[in-house]
Amino acid sequence: MKYSRLFTALDEGLDLNGTLHILRPPAGYDLATLNDVSVDVSFYPDHQYWHAMGMVGDGVGRVATLVVVPRSKTLARALINEAITAGGLVIVDGQKTEGVEGIYKDLRKNNTIMGVVAKGHGRLFWFEAGILPAWDITVKSPNGYKTLAGVFSETKIDIGSSQLVPHLNALKGNTADLGAGWGYLSREILTHEGVTRLDMIEADKSALDCAVANTNDPRANPVWTDALTFGGGPYDTVVSNPPFHTTRVGEPDLGKGFIATAARILKPRGVLLMVANRHLPYEAELDAKFARVEELAGSGAFKVFRATRPKR
Ligand SMILES: C[S@@+](CC[C@H](N)C(=O)[O-])C[C@H]1O[C@@H](n2cnc3c(N)ncnc32)[C@H](O)[C@@H]1O
Repeated sequence: MKYSRLFTALDEGLDLNGTLHILRPPAGYDLATLNDVSVDVSFYPDHQYWHAMGMVGDGVGRVATLVVVPRSKTLARALINEAITAGGLVIVDGQKTEGVEGIYKDLRKNNTIMGVVAKGHGRLFWFEAGILPAWDITVKSPNGYKTLAGVFSETKIDIGSSQLVPHLNALKGNTADLGAGWGYLSREILTHEGVTRLDMIEADKSALDCAVANTNDPRANPVWTDALTFGGGPYDTVVSNPPFHTTRVGEPDLGKGFIATAARILKPRGVLLMVANRHLPYEAELDAKFARVEELAGSGAFKVFRATRPKR
């Protein structure tokens, strides 16, 4: 989009005079000449981007809240409710692929929409905060676990992760769960008494907060960071169900980056135990980064790898 929906709206009458607080803007979201802005993000690489621009803040004293519609419908609704509860002007900006049209239809039933910009396969609209919409924002968490709206696999245990569990044998020492999510694998790792410490490495702050609640173990240490640049350790074991995508588009390079990090943070005799969708092309990267790679029993949909002797 050459000229963003937000700047088109500002040209067309969206009146901001005071702090604009933005919920979940991805890195690179166009704020060009705006400077009275604070942002709230959960994904660490986005946080790094906005932090470097000095924009991370809690929105105290804001006159308007802008919600950048995320992929998760429940999270989108929860963020809009948060914006309405904060009061002032509420601005919603999203792509059609993220469901902004349905959100617009819901909100215009009970709110006077003050302006709309429809362009670039999306829509931005704004209204004065009023009553909360009658929509369901409850998260149906898996039994016995806490999850929050928008975290990976918020309603069910991931099948790939559950297929990795039988291969977590006699774990001990210093361990990392790379891409720990809301902590399903972390809790399983901690059932091994030989594990002395577990670093739960995760970019999504909301997921990491859940992982802390779901493990509730003094050996578990949350690390909010980008796994691709993480340099902690060294670890005896790295366990991972790497992410396949951060957007709707699959990005196998993300998983390859996780493999490179695992090789970098393991001890020379350390072990990587990893599960992946069978169609993902990780073998070459595993062979490039480890001297020994075995495919343990997987299924038609998933493959489980054990990789040892990381190459430096
Ligand atoms: C496939 S999920 C696995 C989650 C969890 N281990 C489980 O079994 O439920 C991958 C996780 O990696 C996280 N992630 C994505 N990109 C990341 C990054 N650059 N650094 C750290 N974590 C990341 C995602 O937020 C997600 O929680």
